[in-house]
Amino acid sequence: MPPAPTTFTVSEATRKKWSEAVNEQANAAPVLDLTVDNITENVIAVNSNVTDNPRLQYLITKFIRASHDFIRDVGLNFEEWEQVWKFLTSVGQISTDVRHEMVLLSDILGISALVDSISHPAVPGATEYSLLGPFHDDRAHFVELGESITSEGTPGEATLVRGTIKDINGNPVNKALIDVWETDGNGTYDVEYIDKDGPDFRGKLYSDKNGAFYFSCVRPVPYPIANDGPVGALLRKLNRHFFRPAHMHFIILHPSYDKLITALYTRDSKYIHSDTVFGVKSSLMVDYVWTEDLKLAEQYGVKPFKRVLDGVEKEGFWLLEHDFVLVGKRDPVSLKTRD
Ligand SMILES: [Fe+2]
Repeated sequence: MPPAPTTFTVSEATRKKWSEAVNEQANAAPVLDLTVDNITENVIAVNSNVTDNPRLQYLITKFIRASHDFIRDVGLNFEEWEQVWKFLTSVGQISTDVRHEMVLLSDILGISALVDSISHPAVPGATEYSLLGPFHDDRAHFVELGESITSEGTPGEATLVRGTIKDINGNPVNKALIDVWETDGNGTYDVEYIDKDGPDFRGKLYSDKNGAFYFSCVRPVPYPIANDGPVGALLRKLNRHFFRPAHMHFIILHPSYDKLITALYTRDSKYIHSDTVFGVKSSLMVDYVWTEDLKLAEQYGVKPFKRVLDGVEKEGFWLLEHDFVLVGKRDPVSLKTRD
């Protein structure tokens, strides 16, 4: 037996609205004998009945016009369009709850970075936003100030990160929640390890009353984005690499301040000027400083490691110091608006 058809009810008011929209379309410009030159105005007219959602009306009108203009501009032919829709179909087919191929496509075309820049205009004196990326995990463990966010034996070079959370007037922000995540020294996130049970190379901690925070971790390294799907195939066709420069992600939260999503990019990292997802901003470039201050290591609980410098074995660790500046929820709207 085939399943019974689904039934649903529609209110009289909704039926009336639909009927009016259909009548309006029927009375609009004739949708007949359309040409390269007049099809756009006709398609826009047919899609001009969204009376209850002006933003949607605006977006669909602009989208139709921009996409038609693009097609006319490049003279897109049938075979090329077939390749486009087959490609987009394959992007959808490989996507899952954990594999966001569509987001990846948006990333490598700079769309994610553009939307991010429009959504979060730079506020003078405040830390700039950067891409969230696909590897944030809200299950990260809380750590005390000074604790490590990496488990024992994590591959990578020991690093101490410390800084202050401030407002745009330079006042410290007490009890800001710092949510940080990074790759290990192999360029791999915890969720990419099949055999890892539970979060690692990530943690949550609070700033103290002076706005200070500090934790130990490993120095992040560059890593390739997923490239075994249609987006990877596209990058190959475009003769592009798959890599992001070394970076450490942060979300900083406090009830009185705007949520900050950002990342710190290692200035001397390979790919710093060719991030495949366009996330790097110069204000977010940071330097890891080599230090052999073993007292500092002891004070902050960092485990130093040995490294050969100019033929001599040295013991030390990396120090990353960076302050974050938050924008208050009550700071003037004019600060947060792009002109
Ligand atoms: Fe990342």
